[in-house]
Amino acid sequence: MVNKDRKIKIKSIGIYLPEKILTNADLEKMVDTSDEWITTRTGIKERRIAADSQTSSDLGVAAAKMALEKANLKAEEVDLILVATNTPDTIFPSTASWIQRKLGIKEIPAFDLQAGCTGALYGLVVAEGLILSGTCRRILLVAVDILSKITNWEDRSTCVLFGDGAGAFILEESQDQSGLISHFWGADGSLGELLILPGGGTLHPANEMTIREKLHYIRMKGNDVFKHAVKRMGEAALEAVKKAGLEKDQVDYLIPHQANLRIIDATGARLGLLKERIVVNVDKYGNMSVATIPVALYELENEGRLKSGDIVVMVAFGAGFTWASAVYRW
Ligand code: UT7
Repeated sequence: MVNKDRKIKIKSIGIYLPEKILTNADLEKMVDTSDEWITTRTGIKERRIAADSQTSSDLGVAAAKMALEKANLKAEEVDLILVATNTPDTIFPSTASWIQRKLGIKEIPAFDLQAGCTGALYGLVVAEGLILSGTCRRILLVAVDILSKITNWEDRSTCVLFGDGAGAFILEESQDQSGLISHFWGADGSLGELLILPGGGTLHPANEMTIREKLHYIRMKGNDVFKHAVKRMGEAALEAVKKAGLEKDQVDYLIPHQANLRIIDATGARLGLLKERIVVNVDKYGNMSVATIPVALYELENEGRLKSGDIVVMVAFGAGFTWASAVYRW
């Protein structure tokens, strides 16, 4: 096993899940779909939906406060706010700036990182660089998305898939054996149109046409995305395990991005893992984009399933396309 002398560790995890639950039965009343189709094709049974009044920074602040409290820290004690999101409160200021303001702190740097559903893992890689280079001592990494606000609720091929949520990590240099031991990341921008929100940026600035054509909603060629996700997530998970100097059978838990149970199962199979070693919560929350991995890791820890020394592999795939994986010794 690779024994990196310096590693970052997750000091604490916070999450926030909106109260409102939207079930497959609710969706049956909204579009031409069925619980049976959604369950067999995706594994999703229900998802959380943010209130109209809630923004991504609201969800992110709630998760951040929980993480700070668990670490017994005040907001002033972090020295960077890094936010992974695809659904910022505003194009600018960044959601990180909104979160800084809502936490009532000033001066420390704050910025957003956008990498599709892979944002939380890209965030870990960026945070590692900043901490191990000595630029930052302690980073608040927030991963939040409110996909319900960019979903076309008349499009059955996408609206059954997504949910809203947030996770937050407090990250600092590890003083023991636990921490991030390897990672792997990549992207292929040539396939960007397969999963895209076309309107509202400089490609299609907001105007009457963009509204009429519904360009402010997620568009996805689900079947194509599915094939790329299966391939890239499987490869990325194996690559991070190899970079960690480990064998597949040394992996205790796999936390795959939660987009579709069939993609999760395929990724687990590439690692040869038993079902109980693969963390699944897509049934309860759907695809919360960047928030899926932090929330799943939080739940795994909270359920008391993680023990010191366990090897956890995290892997994600998303718009861009982007993909990333990480091996973490708990
Ligand atoms: O988080 C970033 C990455 N995102 C993903 O990884 C998502 C990847 N894609 C997927 O998870 C799957 O492709 C979907 C769940 C989106 C779709 O599953 P699929 O097995 O690829 O189905 P499909 O798109 O090939 O559609 C099969 C059929 C179509 O009907 P026809 O043309 O065969 O008659 C669709 O019109 O299912 C139909 N369909 C639906 N039927 C009932 C599509 N959506 C629905 C629906 N309810 N909600």
